[in-house]
Amino acid sequence: MSRRPVIAGNWKMHNLQKEAIELTNGIMQELKSEEKSTLPEVIVAPTFTSLYVVNKAINDCGCGKVKLAAQNCYFETKGAFTGECSVEMLKDTGCEYIIIGHSERREYFGETDEMVNKKAKAILLNGLIPIICCGESLEQREAGVTDYHISSQITKALRDLTSEEVSKSIIAYEPIWAIGTGKTCDSVEANRVIAMIRNVVRKLYDTTTADSIRILYGGSVKPGTIKEQMAQSDIDGALVGGASLTADSFVQIVKGAVACGV
Ligand code: 13P
Repeated sequence: MSRRPVIAGNWKMHNLQKEAIELTNGIMQELKSEEKSTLPEVIVAPTFTSLYVVNKAINDCGCGKVKLAAQNCYFETKGAFTGECSVEMLKDTGCEYIIIGHSERREYFGETDEMVNKKAKAILLNGLIPIICCGESLEQREAGVTDYHISSQITKALRDLTSEEVSKSIIAYEPIWAIGTGKTCDSVEANRVIAMIRNVVRKLYDTTTADSIRILYGGSVKPGTIKEQMAQSDIDGALVGGASLTADSFVQIVKGAVACGV
């Protein structure tokens, strides 16, 4: 079963519009000589305020090598929800993917598994693809409850989704202790957890669904780590934070994935 790899850059709360445009153009410029069919799915996730201009830069280039994602959404369609953006609004700005359940949203903004599930449903209903994040804290890892915690997060996130919807979704395994710390999770261990997640999907659905869903690793991914990560059996790509903020390091990660036989 071959799954198309994904390299996604989560810019978090960085970049004014001008910087976001420059970064996008820089990435596309560096990918110019790459054959599109050999590339992974390359995704950038700017802040809400830069979605419009980044989408415009992508369309102006016309190379079709970079796709747009939002970092969050709200699950209701419209109404009195001050400060929120619906999936339809994000689709309107050109988003094809939306990151949900990131540990920073869970920790600082109270996003629960139930909200992640509602968001996943709203995203899929609108024809977009959710990038569903999960991951354990250091305390959970040290207490030996990593697999239990992640199985629970995934089971709740996927509740009531069809196998067809799950097959096209993306999961990102991001151990919280590896995010922004420079401490990358050992590739073999990341692969073990990701294979465990795939097994959860197999039990909830079937082998075809488990073999179709793409599961990424995130947490201090760097140009120097990607090849080993992509060489693992179950790691289908990366969700990159810090190293996605310069075109050079992000494209090195994309090319590292290509080198692993995308
Ligand atoms: P870093 O790559 O900076 O560790 O961030 C990972 C992340 O949170 C991506 O969503």
